[in-house]
Amino acid sequence: MTAFCLAQLSDLHVSATPLQGIVPTEPMARAAVAAVLRAEARPDACVLTGDLVDAGTADSYALLADLLRPLEARMPVYLMPGNHDARGPLREVFTHHRYLPAEGRLNYRVEIGPLALIALDTLVEGSGHGCVDAATLGWLDAALAAESSRPTIVALHHPPFATGIAFMDRLGVREGAAELEAVIARHPQVKRVIAGHVHRAITLGWAGTIGMTAPSTAQQIALEPAADAPEAFVMEPPGWLLHRRGGGVLRSAVMPVERSAGPIDYA
Ligand SMILES: [Fe+2]
Repeated sequence: MTAFCLAQLSDLHVSATPLQGIVPTEPMARAAVAAVLRAEARPDACVLTGDLVDAGTADSYALLADLLRPLEARMPVYLMPGNHDARGPLREVFTHHRYLPAEGRLNYRVEIGPLALIALDTLVEGSGHGCVDAATLGWLDAALAAESSRPTIVALHHPPFATGIAFMDRLGVREGAAELEAVIARHPQVKRVIAGHVHRAITLGWAGTIGMTAPSTAQQIALEPAADAPEAFVMEPPGWLLHRRGGGVLRSAVMPVERSAGPIDYA
């Protein structure tokens, strides 16, 4: 199989009650799952790049497990933690996700069709920022060296590159970003470095490959270029990313959650 399609959902922040009193994250996450399931491109697998839930409690992971059930019935689903997550409750509720290591950081490598997906756990529990520790870097370098011919997507919650949203960049990967850049640059089979955290689609060149962040399935973060811009969110339409490999090329598209009219034939 050479064609393959990976859906990426991010920053679901699932919660039983609306965030800030106005962001109904749970129904919004259900709408995002429905959008993936009805996509014409028919994704083969789905990765969730962190901030799976808002409060890191077992109750909220149970809610997440419930809303992911229709997706899991159709395709493999891969999870990784963000700064709003907690490893213990996540592991307890998702025991059936056998790719998750039983202890330590939730780093893993899986093969999905012709691609390898490598997830890096950047969570520093109790902090908004992330880190890529030395053990993770060593493990990643060895994993990439062991199979250098398979096109690979590296996924992590905190972008290891600056996105230009100042207050979020201050909460980026504070330790290990330069070292990660050096590791990625050594392994040209890495076709994407995909992240979440900034609740907005941003694409750039980084480490000799393409870095991308995904929109949130809930609130988006205001694209304020000023360094002293207020920390603010906007209720722009939510979205997700579709990474589709065909003819030896990996293409990534930003997809809307909202159902729209069409396709309508040009008359
Ligand atoms: Fe988030």
